[in-house]
Parts: sequence; structure tokens; C-alpha cells
Amino acid sequence: MRAEATPSAPSLVLRPWCVRDLAALIEAYQEPAMRRWAGSAMETDADAAGWVRAQQQGWAAGTRFGFAVLAKDPGSSADHLVGNVVLKEVASGKPSAEVGYWTTAHARGRGVASRALEVLTRWAFDTFGDDGLERLELLHQVDNPASCRVAEKCRYSFDRVLPAAPPAFPLDGHLHTRHKEH
Ligand SMILES: CC(C)(COP(=O)(O)OP(=O)(O)OC[C@H]1O[C@@H](n2cnc3c(N)ncnc32)[C@H](O)[C@@H]1OP(=O)(O)O)[C@@H](O)C(=O)NCCC(=O)NCCS
Repeated sequence: MRAEATPSAPSLVLRPWCVRDLAALIEAYQEPAMRRWAGSAMETDADAAGWVRAQQQGWAAGTRFGFAVLAKDPGSSADHLVGNVVLKEVASGKPSAEVGYWTTAHARGRGVASRALEVLTRWAFDTFGDDGLERLELLHQVDNPASCRVAEKCRYSFDRVLPAAPPAFPLDGHLHTRHKEH
């Protein structure tokens, strides 16, 4: 899948994660915000390989669909990793599923997360809408205003405050939702 270029940012390609991404994945996690918000330990090749394997198992099981987001290198046919978007908690006939995302530190503030999330959202409703998917949910902690802004830009409306659930979620969160257009 693709997101078109903007005047200030290159086009994006979204494709399933694969073993070619291991080094870039480890590098992406060498940053405090990623460690804080994106969860998993990602220090070694084995960590990264396990994470990619889990994405591949999700695709095979039809429950979790993670996409590496790549941007074209200027003046070349090569591309590099700039983020991740994921559709998760998918089940046949289930009316809701959840989305998640992160962007590598150097690529932030150029619409990567919001453009990739818009592509993922359309794909999710196109692919699973006939199987009952009506609503996508997006959760973030209250002290993550950049994530709240991504939700807003992608028309995920604020739904309610979710109480903290330590240790995974030490602070309250926001639930945003976007409904399928009929
Ligand atoms: C949240 C995150 C995915 C945003 O990625 P991104 O590619 O920079 O997102 P976009 O460029 O599409 O949009 C970011 C928006 O947040 C705004 N923003 C950034 N920091 C902000 C802050 N501290 N307060 C308010 N808004 C902020 C930006 O200005 C931009 O809005 P604008 O386009 O109206 O100017 C990225 O910061 C990230 O990966 N963080 C670590 C992992 C994470 O938090 N994942 C989400 C977990 S719920």
C-alpha cells in the first residue's frame, strides 16, 4: 500500500514486516520515547527476530496485521524504515479492532504516522468491513499529546477517558474511535 508524497515529505510504502527489517528495527528502538511508548524489549537480533516472527504469526492467524512503513530515499530507488502501523484484535464477525503506530525519531513531525494510519484505516474497513468490522479503536496515555494529535488528524474521535491500569498503563488514557462510513 502507498501514501502519496506531500510538498514536504516523501511518499510512503506500507508492507508486512520481514527479516530484512531487523537492523532498522533495533535502531528504531534505541530511543527513549520508543522504549517508553512502544513496549517490547528490542536489544538484540533475537529480540527483533522474535518480534518480526510474532507479526508474521499474526498475519497467518488473521488476528494482527503489522506493516513496516518505508520512505523513499531522495534521488534513489532505495527506501528506509520510518515507522510501524498495526491493526490488532481482529476476529471474524467482531465489530471492533484496534490500531497502533510508531514513527522513528528522525522521521517525526512530517505526517508519517497520520498518513500511514489513514492508509491502514481505509484498508481495514475495505478488507474486514464485509466481515462485520464497524469500529476502530485507538488508545494512548494522557501524557502523549503527539499521539492524541495523530488520532485527531485521522478523524478518530475522542470517546472517553480510560482509567490507569498499572503496571502497563500507569496513567489514565484516551480512547478514540473511528466508525466505518456507510
Ligand atoms: C506519536 C508519534 C507516532 C507521532 O508520529 P509522527 O510521524 O510525528 O506524527 P505526525 O507527523 O503524523 O503528527 C504528529 C502531530 O503531533 C504534533 N505534536 C508533536 N509533539 C506534540 C506535543 N508535544 N504536543 C502536542 N502536539 C504535538 C505535531 O505537531 C503533529 O501535528 P500537526 O501535523 O498538526 O503539526 C511519534 O511521536 C512516536 O512514534 N512516538 C513514540 C511512540 C508512540 O508514542 N506511539 C503511539 C503510542 S499510543
